Amino acid sequence: MYKPKPLEWTVALSTGDEALDIQHKYLVDTLNKLGDAINEGHGIDSLARILGTLRFYAGWHFGKEENCFEAYHCSAAEKNKKAHAVFVDKFDIYHTEFNRSGGSNELALKIHEEISDWIVNHILVVDGELYPCIHHRPKPSLSS
Ligand SMILES: [Fe+2]
Repeated sequence: MYKPKPLEWTVALSTGDEALDIQHKYLVDTLNKLGDAINEGHGIDSLARILGTLRFYAGWHFGKEENCFEAYHCSAAEKNKKAHAVFVDKFDIYHTEFNRSGGSNELALKIHEEISDWIVNHILVVDGELYPCIHHRPKPSLSS
């Protein structure tokens, strides 16, 4: 059975923009809070609060990030925007179900499982395409 593990922000996840990196760290921290609340059984209210924060913050952050991609004329801007829309649609289906049903640890676990890999991979791959647009050199490698 899936068990949330702590996620870690590393330099490989850098976008080259300090503000966006801080926002990504906050997203990772919030996912870790959700994982802790699930693992330690903090209860439905706590899960609902963290899911609400995650949804609000992700939406706000996506807007900031999309503006940044546009500002640097990054060729991945459209791909990034589409990926965000897919994420929001997926999250909202689960989030609505969580709120409608009164929530459960199992559903929060399913949400965590579905979104944590997506977020980390998205930051690594798609958001990483911003780095060379800002710095005109490749992003630091995974090992650095
Ligand atoms: Fe993104």
